[in-house]
Amino acid sequence: MKVAMIGTGVVGRTLAGKMASLGHEVVIGTRDVQALMARTEIGRAERETFAAWHAANQGVRVASFAEAARHGEVVFHATNGARALDALRSCGAENLNGKVLIDISNPLDFSRGFPPSLSVCNTDSLAEQIQREFPQARLVKTLNTVSAPVMVAPESVGGADHQVFVSGNDEAAKATVTDILKSWFGWRNVLDLGDISAARGMEMYLPLWVRMMGVLQSPMFNVRVVTQGSS
Ligand SMILES: NC(=O)c1ccc[n+]([C@@H]2O[C@H](COP(=O)([O-])OP(=O)(O)OC[C@H]3O[C@@H](n4cnc5c(N)ncnc54)[C@H](OP(=O)(O)O)[C@@H]3O)[C@@H](O)[C@H]2O)c1
Repeated sequence: MKVAMIGTGVVGRTLAGKMASLGHEVVIGTRDVQALMARTEIGRAERETFAAWHAANQGVRVASFAEAARHGEVVFHATNGARALDALRSCGAENLNGKVLIDISNPLDFSRGFPPSLSVCNTDSLAEQIQREFPQARLVKTLNTVSAPVMVAPESVGGADHQVFVSGNDEAAKATVTDILKSWFGWRNVLDLGDISAARGMEMYLPLWVRMMGVLQSPMFNVRVVTQGSS
């Protein structure tokens, strides 16, 4: 499948590399290809420069946000939450309209240091802001509640016996994303939380996730939902 990955951080690289390894035609989008390839700093949680990562992942094509979005039959979005709307505007609504848009971003605000707060919460969410700005995109929120390595290898924690959530207004888009999560990445338990307003809870889980990461001293974890009668 032709896939766009909007975002070149840890999430973008992890998902793009995995999808290319599965044989998909992946284009990863950035603000400025030359600047990205020339960058020498290594971001928090990144292991290497983007250029070093790309040298080992040459099956992934690097392009502008707009060119990547144009290429994608399905578009993944993982940019800095504070800049997500700017990044998606750069993609161009015409390159997102009618497409399944998979939003992984979180509205984390690091302006007061660590731990981050949320720039939008309670009665709204970043996902809803994105859906309002791009009403014709078939938006599905997912994967934002786990770290990048767990996204593509759920079996790496708890034998894959744990949940990933989806939310969105388009039932067919959620079915497509559920199939992608299961057949590409190996998720066994996908819990549909309903319409896109469920993204509020998915994003407001992040303060708890950050706290758990500190206590566990690792991002390699997830939660399992159990119900009466389940073991
Ligand atoms: N890291 C994780 O394990 C994890 C887990 C769950 C969810 N998330 C969420 O996923 C998203 C991506 O996280 P990440 O750690 O992979 O990367 P990140 O560092 O949060 O974001 C990197 C991306 O943001 C873009 N960006 C930065 N400033 C911008 C601006 N002013 N205008 C437009 N675009 C801008 C960058 O563009 P350039 O390519 O041009 O530099 C790059 O593509 C975040 O919202 C994060 O909260 C992360």
